[in-house]
Amino acid sequence: MGAALGAALIDPGREVRWVSAGRSEATARRAEASGLRDAGRLGALVGECEAILSVCPPHAAPAVAESVAREGFSGLYVEANAIAPRTSLALAARVRRAGATYVDGAIIGPPPGAGRSPRLYLSGGHAGEAAELFAGTSIDARRLGGDPYAASALKAAFAAWTKAGSALLLAAEAAARRAGVGEELAAEWSAMPGVGDRLRAARRDAAAKGWRWVGEMEEGARAFADLGQPSGFHAAAGEVYRG
Ligand SMILES: NC(=O)c1ccc[n+]([C@@H]2O[C@H](COP(=O)([O-])OP(=O)(O)OC[C@H]3O[C@@H](n4cnc5c(N)ncnc54)[C@H](OP(=O)(O)O)[C@@H]3O)[C@@H](O)[C@H]2O)c1
Repeated sequence: MGAALGAALIDPGREVRWVSAGRSEATARRAEASGLRDAGRLGALVGECEAILSVCPPHAAPAVAESVAREGFSGLYVEANAIAPRTSLALAARVRRAGATYVDGAIIGPPPGAGRSPRLYLSGGHAGEAAELFAGTSIDARRLGGDPYAASALKAAFAAWTKAGSALLLAAEAAARRAGVGEELAAEWSAMPGVGDRLRAARRDAAAKGWRWVGEMEEGARAFADLGQPSGFHAAAGEVYRG
């Protein structure tokens, strides 16, 4: 997603940099193919860029914000990962102490390409400045009013139905199989519109990227607890994706 967003930002003529230090070959290949310039190390990037967009697995978001703050970044920091509002609040405090301006964000939808465009939701007093960065790109940047961490809350609520809902299907399927009634459950589900397709997608996605949804589900549980909702949906989904 990070490479795709970077490529979209280059389209209207912006220069986009990334940091190769510590990253895998696969990530380096994606960044190069997307036309991003390698700043080499974070210290260089912080000195050269007006804005930093954090797009990484949710469990790594605090470490990324901490490193950026330690480098003394004083520009616009857009936290676009699937983290709880409470986590985002803590990251905001950290990067602001270093002198940066913070914007809470969340991405919904697949990476841009082939006519698709993800929504980048932005909240807080500086959301407009962050949305400006995406003017003229294929990214649909949307400002949210109300709570400064509304973007993170929206993502947790969205993932409750998508990722936590899919995990529920996988757990139900496993339970029925364990009880020897897997075929009967499959037959019942086959009569219900959409369940078969959703189950197949859930199996495929859990195998490919379930490991990195564990952190997102932990953050979702935290978000729901703070928003007065049961935290168990996301917590159980995290257990399913942990395998
Ligand atoms: N993919 C989607 O369709 C989608 C949709 C909506 C939202 N998102 C959001 O986008 C974010 C990234 O998801 P993704 O699908 O792009 O994940 P991904 O394909 O697993 O890529 C994650 C990237 O983050 C890098 N990374 C890992 N740990 C890092 C660290 N400590 N510091 C800096 N970079 C680090 C990885 O580099 P290495 O290869 O070196 O590990 C990799 O390049 C998540 O917050 C997710 O919620 C994604």
